[in-house]
Amino acid sequence: MIKMLEPFGVIDDTPVYLYTISYGNYSASICNFGATLIRLFVPDKNGNPVNVVCGYDSVEAYILNDSYMGAIVLPSANRIRKGQFTLNGKTYQLRINNGPNNLHSSLPGGSAQRIWRLVNYGESELTLQLEYGDGDLGFPGIRVFTVTYALSEEGLTISYSAVSDQDTLFNPTNHSYFNLKGHGTILDHILQINAHYFTPNDADSCPTGEIRAVENTPFDFTQPKPIGQDINQDDIQLVYGNGYDHNWMIDDFDGSLKTIAVLYCEETGIQCETLTSMPGIQVYTANYLGNEKYSKNAAVCLETQFTPDSINLDNQVKPIIKAGVPASHVTVYRFSVKES
Ligand code: BGC
Repeated sequence: MIKMLEPFGVIDDTPVYLYTISYGNYSASICNFGATLIRLFVPDKNGNPVNVVCGYDSVEAYILNDSYMGAIVLPSANRIRKGQFTLNGKTYQLRINNGPNNLHSSLPGGSAQRIWRLVNYGESELTLQLEYGDGDLGFPGIRVFTVTYALSEEGLTISYSAVSDQDTLFNPTNHSYFNLKGHGTILDHILQINAHYFTPNDADSCPTGEIRAVENTPFDFTQPKPIGQDINQDDIQLVYGNGYDHNWMIDDFDGSLKTIAVLYCEETGIQCETLTSMPGIQVYTANYLGNEKYSKNAAVCLETQFTPDSINLDNQVKPIIKAGVPASHVTVYRFSVKES
């Protein structure tokens, strides 16, 4: 019997909880601190449950969660060059927290480190909300962000919505670290990405503005291949990222829900198809993980999002939402088992 609600520690004198939702053989546990996905159990080819995301056992490990493990990151995922952007003629300065840039909006104090408000909790669905005042984290607008985690026969759906009283940025992601066998390396996982183009980075892992064809590069995942196959190739992009830490642009983006990536683990037979309404995916092979529990390449993040720094790039779709107009995005991690 799954425990629905468990104490998960205390943040600033406020107790936080782990909320477990389930559907058939799937179950997911989410903490209201950071709206963080802590565990996600999926059946393998023998019907045994496998926890396919990395996570820790109490909220203390998440307080300085600079790996953003499992967290919801918003208003703006990934990097913004020099932490600066101009919107409607006004220039905004965000905190510089990663080399010369802003990463994941902010740390500390960002969405990964706030206690979210519980709005709805059912057997297979959980909704959390976070409010920011005008200028909080450096972005304009009094904003309300709502995230729903829902399990169904498909797997896990994450729905994001936002409303603001001023034009602002909305580029949310979930920063889960996936490992479809629950332990060990992901270099043996087979990955396919429906993208013929990616965005190369500078030495600080911020897109240069170039859009490059993946053909004849280690970034070509148009046909399924092991993640580790080309990860050590002599390519300056892999040196900058210490592995894959790049954004792929989905083919034929039109804002509808489309499959952007398919991850498969032969050992467990678990396949995870990632669908999103957003323009791209940051595939990050956990190049900077390294602690007693998890080492480098122990997981792969499949961060659906707008292109990092797209607010400053004229050849990218910009993550701008208009004052008073609710905006939403959806990402589905659809699970199945496949015999090799
Ligand atoms: C970034 C990485 C970063 C990681 C953890 C990813 O989205 O692209 O560069 O190390 O998040 O913060």
